Parts: sequence; structure tokens; C-alpha cells
Amino acid sequence: MSNVQTLLDEGLAALAATADPVELENVKAKYLGKSGALTELLKQLGALPPEEKRSQGAVINQAKQAFEAALNGRREAIAAEKLNQQLAAEALDVTLPGRGNGSGGLHPVTLVKERIVALFQSMGFEVADGPEIEGDWHNFEALNTPKDHPARSMQDTFYVGGGKDGEPLVLRTHTSPIQVRYMENHKPPIKIVAPGRVYRVDSDATHSPMFHQMEGLWVAEGVSFADLKATLIDFLRRFFERDDLQVRFRPSFFPFTETSAEVDVLGERGWLEVGGCGMVHPNVLRNVGIDPEQFTGFAFGIGLDRFAMLYYGVNDLRLFFDNDLTFLGQFR
Ligand code: FA5
Ligand code: MG
Repeated sequence: MSNVQTLLDEGLAALAATADPVELENVKAKYLGKSGALTELLKQLGALPPEEKRSQGAVINQAKQAFEAALNGRREAIAAEKLNQQLAAEALDVTLPGRGNGSGGLHPVTLVKERIVALFQSMGFEVADGPEIEGDWHNFEALNTPKDHPARSMQDTFYVGGGKDGEPLVLRTHTSPIQVRYMENHKPPIKIVAPGRVYRVDSDATHSPMFHQMEGLWVAEGVSFADLKATLIDFLRRFFERDDLQVRFRPSFFPFTETSAEVDVLGERGWLEVGGCGMVHPNVLRNVGIDPEQFTGFAFGIGLDRFAMLYYGVNDLRLFFDNDLTFLGQFR
């Protein structure tokens, strides 16, 4: 009897000392396993006389039940401790302020582009697009600029190899090839703008090797240079929100327009050229199958980066492409 009690006390103490389920199973096996201490006592009962067998049997069974009750209690306690530890480790303070998720923003040139496109859309222009790698035909030839034409050297070009048919491929030097592509596939009246990236071997404070232009094209019956001036001046005054904005049309030359002009805007640092423009050359219309006797049109190509410079008062356009977030984050 005292033997059983001692064994039980030891067993309960061993259970109380366990810290995890593995230790707990080991202690259980030591007492209740096939050759566990309590199991052994029960096996020995058979050898006792009937009287003792009954009384001793009851004592051992009680001890066994007490051990099992303690075992279950300890099992639950270990599980609860584990849960509490996990809860403490994964504690979430819902009252803490958020870390902030650094909301991104649009690039200043993109912001200006969207503003400009919206203004032209309000004047009835649709938006067109074209590839950045162009063939010689669309970038030059169809625009009345043959191979030996000196105007080609004004746009010092990145050649990028040849197409299937041997046609030289270039990173487009302006958005004007989109005019050609659009007119090849649409009949007048045509009224589009086409923004996009363009490339030239250029680099200084107002020239970047990759920059952005937006082409404009309006071809219909009776479109005149007066329409061109009115459209551009109206656009420029609305864009800069100044009715007294000074705009200058400076006589110029482009192979694909006749007459041609550069458009300058008076900014804080003097006149800045923001684009070229003119009446679409009859040869260009003929190249795309439009009859120049029936239709006339104007076209322009403006430098979007120059607009961003003027609009935001930035004096070096290369800042736009340094990807310095402190700089870029200022524009909203
Ligand atoms: C042209 O590219 C003509 N395709 C524009 C045109 C279209 C004329 C339709 C007539 C009819 P130009 O090379 O001048 O023209 O460029 C137009 C504008 O792009 C310039 O006025 C300037 O604002 C901008 N630009 C030119 N080169 C750069 C450069 N390297 N970096 C930033 N802006 C530039
Ligand atoms: Mg120019």
C-alpha cells in the first residue's frame, strides 16, 4: 500500500515537472506503458491470495485513475501554455499607428502629358499611338525626307539594325511617323494627338537622348494656317492658365510641312522652343494616298519635357530622368 502511494507520488511529481508533450508521453510510458511501474503492479496481482487481490487491486486502480487524471490535467496545461506563448509572441497592437505605405505618384512628365492630352481631347482630338522602333519609311522617307536630305542630320539618329526586307530600323527620332501610320489607315477628317518617347543623340540642359513629344494632326477640307495658330495659341494659354502668354511662331523648315514654323513660349528665362509645326506637305499626303487638292491639314510636334520644365520651373531637363525620388516627389 505504502509502496503504491510512493510510486504514485513519484509519478505525479514527474508529471508536474514535464514541460512539453514529448516529456509527458515519456512519463506516461514509464508508469502506464506495457512494462510501466503501475502496469507491473497490476500484473503481480494475479499471484496474490483472493482477499489481498481485491483490496490491493482497488488501491492500485485508484492510483492508476489518479495518475491518469493528473496526466490529462498536465496535457491540457501544456497545451494552454503553448497557446499563451504563441499569443504573446504574435501579439498585435491594433492601436499602433500604421507604418505608412509611401503612396507612389506620377512622373512630372506624365502629369504634364495627361494634362495636355486632356486639353486636346476637349478640343475634339483623339489619341493615337505607334511603335518606338520605326522603319526608315515611316520615320523619314514618307515624311518627305529622302536618304540624302540634310534634314536627317538635324535628328542625329540611333540606328538599330535592319528589318526583314533590309529596311533600316531606327529608334524613332520624333512622333511624326505616327502621322504617317494613322493616315495610311484612316481617311480624312483626321484629328489626332499622339504622345510618346523619342530618341536622338543629344544631351544638354534642354536636350536628353530620350525625351517625349506629342504629335498633333488635323487633316480635313479647308484646314488653314489660321486654324493651326488658333489651336496652338488657345492650347498654350489654357495649359499655362495665362491669357496674356507670349507665343511666337518663328519661320522654319521641316521637309514634311510647308509652310513651317517653330513655336516659342516666353518663360522666366526668355524664349523657349516648345515645338515645331506647319501645314502638312502635299508630298506627305500623296505618300499616304490622300489627295492634296481636296484636303489640307496642319501638324505639330511639341516637346513634353520642355512643357514640364516651363510648367514646374525646372531649369535642367536631365533632372527628370535622374530618378531622384526627393526631386520627383515634389510634383503632384
Ligand atoms: C520635330 O521633331 C518635328 N517632328 C516637329 C514637327 C511635327 C514639325 C509636325 C512639324 C510638323 P524638332 O526637332 O524641332 O521637330 O523637335 C520638336 C520639339 O521637341 C522641340 O521644339 C523641343 O521642344 C523638343 N526636343 C527636341 N529635341 C529634344 C531633346 N533632345 N530633348 C528634349 N526635347 C527635345
Ligand atoms: Mg526644332
